[in-house]
Amino acid sequence: MKFGVFLPNGSNGYVLSEALEPYLPTYEHQRSIVIEAEKQGLSFALPMIKFRGFGGATGYWDHCLEPFTLIAALATETKNITFVPTVALLALHPVYTARTMATLSNISKGRVGLNIVTGWNRPEYEQMGLWPGDDYYEHRYDFASEYLNVLQDLWSTGKCTRQSNYWDLKDCHCFPTPDCEIPIFSAGQSPSGVDFCRKFADFRFVFGHPEMLKKLEQEKLEGHKEKYGTYLLFHMIVESSDQLAKKIGEDIIAKADKVAISNQISSASLDTNPGGTSEAMRSSLDKSLEDGNAAFNIIPVIHGSPKTVAMKIQELSEKTGADGFMFSWNNFESGIKVFGQDVLPHIS
Ligand SMILES: Cc1cc2nc3c(=O)[nH]c(=O)nc-3n(C[C@H](O)[C@H](O)[C@H](O)COP(=O)(O)O)c2cc1C
Repeated sequence: MKFGVFLPNGSNGYVLSEALEPYLPTYEHQRSIVIEAEKQGLSFALPMIKFRGFGGATGYWDHCLEPFTLIAALATETKNITFVPTVALLALHPVYTARTMATLSNISKGRVGLNIVTGWNRPEYEQMGLWPGDDYYEHRYDFASEYLNVLQDLWSTGKCTRQSNYWDLKDCHCFPTPDCEIPIFSAGQSPSGVDFCRKFADFRFVFGHPEMLKKLEQEKLEGHKEKYGTYLLFHMIVESSDQLAKKIGEDIIAKADKVAISNQISSASLDTNPGGTSEAMRSSLDKSLEDGNAAFNIIPVIHGSPKTVAMKIQELSEKTGADGFMFSWNNFESGIKVFGQDVLPHIS
C-alpha cells in the first residue's frame, strides 16, 4: 500500500476554518514536510495549482506556490520520494509541459508523475484571459485527451505531428525524452472525468466519501478492476483518544470560514455538470466529518487514536481494494510524524 501527502502549497492547506492559525505557503515549509514524509516512508508528494484563492477571514488559497519550480528544488533535497506536480492544462501549452517534465525527470532521476487538472473554475482562468468559454465545462476532458495525446507522442518519440481543435503541431520536436516513464495521475470525478482516467491515467484519486467507498467495495465484490490504480483521499486527525480527534475536527467545522467557503462554492457552482466535484461542493456545508464537509474542502476526515486510524485504513484498503491513500493534515509536519511513528506500525 502506498501513502502520499497532498502538499499545502496553497495558503492554509485543505482547511477553511478559523479554528486553525492561518499560514502562507513557503518553500521552507514544503521542504520540511517532504523531508519528514521521506523519513516516515511516504511514497509521493503532490502539490496542487490554484490561480485565484477564495479570500474570507483566512485568505484561503490566496497564495499558491507554483508546483514545477517547487518540485525542481525539492527533488534536489530528497532521494526516494516521488513528486507529482499538478499541471493546469489551460495555462500551459502541452509542449512546454512535456519539456518541463522531461527536465524534472532528469533532475529527480525519474521520481516524477504528473497530475492532470482541466481547471473547472472559470474565475481562475477568466482573470488571465484564458477561459475558452463556458462550453469548456462540457468539452474539458476532450481537451485533456488531446493534450495527453501530444504528451505521449513527445515523451515516447520526442516528436509530434497532430492537428486537433486545439493545436496544430507539425513535426514538432521536444528533446530530451524523459529518463523514465512518467505516470499520469488524475482526480476526474465526473463521468467524463472517469472516462478520461480509464483512457490515460495510471492512478486516479477518489475522495473517500462513504458512497464512493461503497461503490468501490461493490466493484471489488464483483471482481471488477479498473486499469488505473486507485488512491483514496482523506484528511487525517490523530490524537491521543478517539474523542479528542473527533472534537478537534468538529471544532474546525464549527469555526468554518464561511466567506471563503461561499466564494469557493459560487465558483464551483458555475460548472453544472452532474456527478462531479462541483455538485459535491454545493451540498457540503452540513456534511459530517466523515462525509466531506466544506471546512475540509469536502475531503472526508479519518480521525481517532493511532490504533483506531490504523484499523480504519486497514479495513478501507481491504474492503475497497484501493492501491493507496493520499492525506492532508492540520499540521503537516507533526501529522506525518505521528502517522509514521504511531499509525503505520499497526498497519500490515
Ligand atoms: C487530489 C486532488 C487534486 C486536485 N488538484 C487540483 C488542482 O491542483 N487544481 C485544480 O484546479 N483542481 C484540482 N483538483 C480538481 C480535479 O482535478 C477535478 O477537476 C475536480 O475534482 C472536478 O472533477 P471533474 O472535473 O471530473 O468534475 C484536484 C482534485 C483532487 C481530488
